[in-house]
Amino acid sequence: MRTHDSTPHLPTVGIGTFQLKSGTVIRDVLHSALSIGIRLFDTAQCYRNEELISQSLISLLPDFSLTRSDITIVSKLDPKNQGTEKAEAAVEKTLECFGGYVDVMLIHWPGVSKMKSDDPQIKVIRKESWKVLEDYQVKGKIKHIGVSNYTVYHLKELINYCSIKPTVLQNEFHPRYQELDVLEFCQEHGIKFMGYSPFGQGDLLSDKTIVAIAEKHHVLPSNVLVQWALQRGAICIPRTTKPERVIENLEYSSFILDSDDMQQMARLNDGHKFCWDPHRVV
Ligand SMILES: NC(=O)c1ccc[n+]([C@@H]2O[C@H](COP(=O)([O-])OP(=O)(O)OC[C@H]3O[C@@H](n4cnc5c(N)ncnc54)[C@H](OP(=O)(O)O)[C@@H]3O)[C@@H](O)[C@H]2O)c1
Repeated sequence: MRTHDSTPHLPTVGIGTFQLKSGTVIRDVLHSALSIGIRLFDTAQCYRNEELISQSLISLLPDFSLTRSDITIVSKLDPKNQGTEKAEAAVEKTLECFGGYVDVMLIHWPGVSKMKSDDPQIKVIRKESWKVLEDYQVKGKIKHIGVSNYTVYHLKELINYCSIKPTVLQNEFHPRYQELDVLEFCQEHGIKFMGYSPFGQGDLLSDKTIVAIAEKHHVLPSNVLVQWALQRGAICIPRTTKPERVIENLEYSSFILDSDDMQQMARLNDGHKFCWDPHRVV
C-alpha cells in the first residue's frame, strides 16, 4: 500500500455548511468566518451549495488578501454518485467549482443511494469510488482523500484493498457520541479525525453538564463543545446560519477544560447519534 501523502496539516477548526442554502446567508457566514481567521470550509455535493460557496469565496477572498491556496475546501462524494462513472463525473463538477482542485474529498457514506444497506454489491461500488478518488489524487486534483461515516469495519475493509490510504475521516463526534474505537483506529493509521455535529445539531448547547462547565469558565456552551473536540484531537466543524454566532462560537479567549470537566463530559457518552447511522451498511 502506498502512502501518497503523510497525515495532512489541516486547520483544526472550520465551518460546516450543511443546510446553508441561501446565497446571502452563505456570504455573510463566510465573511464572518474569514474575518476571524477560519480557513477550512466543509461542504458536500448533496448540500447543493458548492457553487454558492465558491462564488462567495471568489468575491470575499480578495477583501482579506487571500487566494484559493490559503483556504481548505472539504467536499464529499454524494451517495448517489458512487461507482466509477458517476463518481468521475461528480468529482469533475466539484473540481470545476473550486478552481480545478479540492483540498479534501471524502466518500460521504459507505452505502449507495437507493440500494438496501445489506446489498453485497455496495462493497463493490464503494471500492470503485475509492479507486476514482485515488486516481484524482495521483493526478494532483485532490490533495487528500478520505471517507465519512465509516465504522471500524468499513475502515478495515478499505485499508485492505486501497493503494493509497485514507488520510482524513469525518464522523459524528460530540460528548454523547465519542467514537472511541474509530478514534483509536485513526490514531493507529495516521488518519486525521474530523468531527461533525459538534453541537449535536444544537441540542447539546442546552445540556446541563455542558452549561455548567461553560458557566464555570465564563464561556458559552458552544465554546465548551468546540474546545472538547479540540482537546480530544479532532478537527471541529460547527455550523450556524448566523454570522454573529460564527464569532461567538469560535473566537474566544483560550481556555482549557480541566480533567474534572473532561471526566464529566466523558460520562455523557451514551452512544446517542443525532445524524445517520452507518452500522447497518454492509
Ligand atoms: N459527513 C456527514 O455525514 C455530516 C453530517 C452532518 C454534518 N456534517 C458537517 O458538520 C457540520 C456541523 O454539523 P451539523 O450541521 O449537523 O450541526 P452542529 O454544528 O452540531 O449544530 C448546528 C446547529 O446549532 C445551532 N447553533 C450554532 N451555534 C449556536 C449558538 N451559539 N447558539 C444557539 N444555537 C446555535 C445552529 O442553529 P443556527 O443556524 O440558528 O445558529 C444549528 O441548528 C455540518 O454543517 C456539515 O458541514 C457532516
